[in-house]
Amino acid sequence: MNGDHSHKRGESALMAKGLVKRFKTGRTFIEVLKGVDFDAKHGDVTMVMGPSGSGKSTLVAALSGLLRPEEGKVQAMDTPDLWKLSAGKIDKFRLDHCGFIFQGFNLFPALTAKQQVMTALKYQGVGPGEAGRRAQAVLESVGLGPRVNQRPSELSGGEKQRVAIARALAKNPNLIFADEPTSALDGKSGEVVIRLLRQAATERGAAVICVTHDPRLEAYADRVIHIEDGRILDDVRRTPDANPPPLSH
Ligand SMILES: Nc1ncnc2c1ncn2[C@@H]1O[C@H](COP(=O)(O)OP(=O)(O)OP(=O)(O)O)[C@@H](O)[C@H]1O
Ligand SMILES: [Mg+2]
Repeated sequence: MNGDHSHKRGESALMAKGLVKRFKTGRTFIEVLKGVDFDAKHGDVTMVMGPSGSGKSTLVAALSGLLRPEEGKVQAMDTPDLWKLSAGKIDKFRLDHCGFIFQGFNLFPALTAKQQVMTALKYQGVGPGEAGRRAQAVLESVGLGPRVNQRPSELSGGEKQRVAIARALAKNPNLIFADEPTSALDGKSGEVVIRLLRQAATERGAAVICVTHDPRLEAYADRVIHIEDGRILDDVRRTPDANPPPLSH
């Protein structure tokens, strides 16, 4: 579970079948996911691309236990049917297995970079001494060693996003969900972020599911899935580029 390195590249990490999500708007329902099948493997960076409003964030939420679909099934890690679990067990599943990185960073304004990461580890039951050491190490690994004692207001956008990544990676999650993790960043900061996600897949065997609008990120993907109007249009396996072109131009 925590710190588990036993998962092999290519093993299934998550498999969803027939996901349907509807939202009520006024008296009618709009169907945002129209029977989506989806799977992700350990060691893969799986990119989900598609126009605004096509259902990408909704899909990520349904796969990760954040938003209950009306129909369908999500098998993830050792859980045969995520949405059959109690609310408490779904929370535990997210805590044990999932790291989240969103565009808005979701950092606590009052906490330093190190405290942000330590807080995530403490929720998992890691003691303060070890949490401090691991937080320091993971922040150094994302190049924030000199920034550990700064608060979000004292960090750049790219640095904040790296704190969010450090927080997501610190617990060594099996599943990493990233929703437009580079969209608020300049090319250079965006490149740092996507390289860290690539590394988490390659070196730790995490299954990285990354929503993006940015076609330049495809160079880092093992697989690219296009979604439009709540349906998967295509699903292409590719080999990540050995030397991806720089994101900044
Ligand atoms: N809580 C809600 N109530 C009603 N409609 C919603 C709700 N959440 C999302 N929607 C609608 O569902 C559709 C898909 O939303 P979603 O956020 O999944 O799109 P997206 O592909 O992530 O778009 P973007 O690229 O703009 O982030 C949109 O048309 C949106 O308006
Ligand atoms: Mg979205």
